[in-house]
Amino acid sequence: MIYKATIDDTMDIYELEKETFQEDSYSCEEIETLITHKCRETFVIRDSDYLIGYISFNLYECQDKIQPKQMKRLYIQSLCINSKYRKQGFGRQLMEYADLQANMYKCESIYLHVKQSNKIAQELYKSCGFTISCILKNYYKKEDGFMMSKSLKG
Ligand SMILES: CC(C)(COP(=O)(O)OP(=O)(O)OC[C@H]1O[C@@H](n2cnc3c(N)ncnc32)[C@H](O)[C@@H]1OP(=O)(O)O)[C@@H](O)C(=O)NCCC(=O)NCCS
Repeated sequence: MIYKATIDDTMDIYELEKETFQEDSYSCEEIETLITHKCRETFVIRDSDYLIGYISFNLYECQDKIQPKQMKRLYIQSLCINSKYRKQGFGRQLMEYADLQANMYKCESIYLHVKQSNKIAQELYKSCGFTISCILKNYYKKEDGFMMSKSLKG
């Protein structure tokens, strides 16, 4: 079941983050912000009480670089599936959920950042229609990143 995270999900997300990203994981305070900030949306997927994974994204408006108009975009800030539940389609399910939300809010594109070494996540994003937009030099502590994006219109 996918539902909008509440503050009660904080500790489970924190444990999943710690197990997955170790020293790069979000703190409890940062996770609370992901859940409660008005421009952010966080959704969890659970198997009864057990946290399978979560996705967090920002919805915002920015200036179009070419035309003089505002455009809406969705930025996927975080995605994580518990190691016991990987390769069962849950990551794709959460990505499709982000797509649905982006369409609902009439966003023109979705984008995200990913470590250059994280080939598994890149495969997921490619299979969801994302392509690499640019290389982000030294974006992470020890390596470069990619910006990947997908247009939702035309
Ligand atoms: C990346 C991650 C979210 C994928 O979640 P998942 O639930 O295992 O992915 P899915 O089962 O939905 O797989 C969807 C697609 O992703 C790709 N993929 C997933 N696992 C893969 C693997 N081990 N090797 C290669 N491709 C893989 C495949 O294209 C797959 O499609 P397919 O099943 O038709 O082959 C998960 O591995 C994870 O949480 N990793 C650690 C955290 C992380 O890296 N988050 C992203 C930070 S940018």
